Amino acid sequence: MPKKKLIAGNWKMNGSIAANDALVRAVIAGMKDAACQVAVCVPAPYLAQVQMLRHGTALELGAQDVSRHEQGAYTGEWSATMLKEFGVRYAIVGHSERRQYHHESDQDVADKAKAALAHGITPIVCVGETLAEREAGQTELVVKRQLAAVIHTNGHCISEIVVAYEPVWAIGTGKTATPEQAQQVHAVLRAQLHAASTRDDRVPILYGGSMNAANAASLLAQPDIDGGLIGGASLKAPDFLQIIAAAR
Ligand code: G3P
Repeated sequence: MPKKKLIAGNWKMNGSIAANDALVRAVIAGMKDAACQVAVCVPAPYLAQVQMLRHGTALELGAQDVSRHEQGAYTGEWSATMLKEFGVRYAIVGHSERRQYHHESDQDVADKAKAALAHGITPIVCVGETLAEREAGQTELVVKRQLAAVIHTNGHCISEIVVAYEPVWAIGTGKTATPEQAQQVHAVLRAQLHAASTRDDRVPILYGGSMNAANAASLLAQPDIDGGLIGGASLKAPDFLQIIAAAR
């Protein structure tokens, strides 16, 4: 039985108590016949609110980061244990915006994935190249290097992660990778994960980077695209629901 596709919204630093209430209620109402799994990864201050709103529904809750530490003097960080208290199922790690603005290394990302896995949270491990790296023909080198750190650190648990290929040049730009471009990189990541896994489990590989209602179906039709990590379009219920409907 093939795994259901996963459509995860990454709200980034957006939202308000009132807007979240309207958005989440609309998504829950509209996803009743969804053939895929649906999650929303919300800013930490809103975890309790969305935990309450999603109670008793199929909507899953995700965080946008997690500390690699268990507890202690790490101001501004939050642990996987804390996230579990809010019913969090997923944690995005290694998003390009955190790699850029917070200088997160490949090993930082690998360690965050390990901390999440240690507490039953599924890390959504983001990998992706910049435009300069793509234009220099380094796309495969970059994404394989980023994923290799996670595999090296979490080898025995690698089948429990989710990977998101997010070409940096497609994030928030409206310049979506073509289905062929995305499939080509997903196939490389699939082969790398297969070589590292001791089990036959298929690790989900999501695409992220300007996926929207218009292009979702063609992207999700690709053999190695198992879902989407959605930024801007996840903040608008009709658009997010059209992407969910396309994930069959
Ligand atoms: O994590 C998903 C995000 O980076 C994609 O953003 O706005 O291009 O869908 P967007």
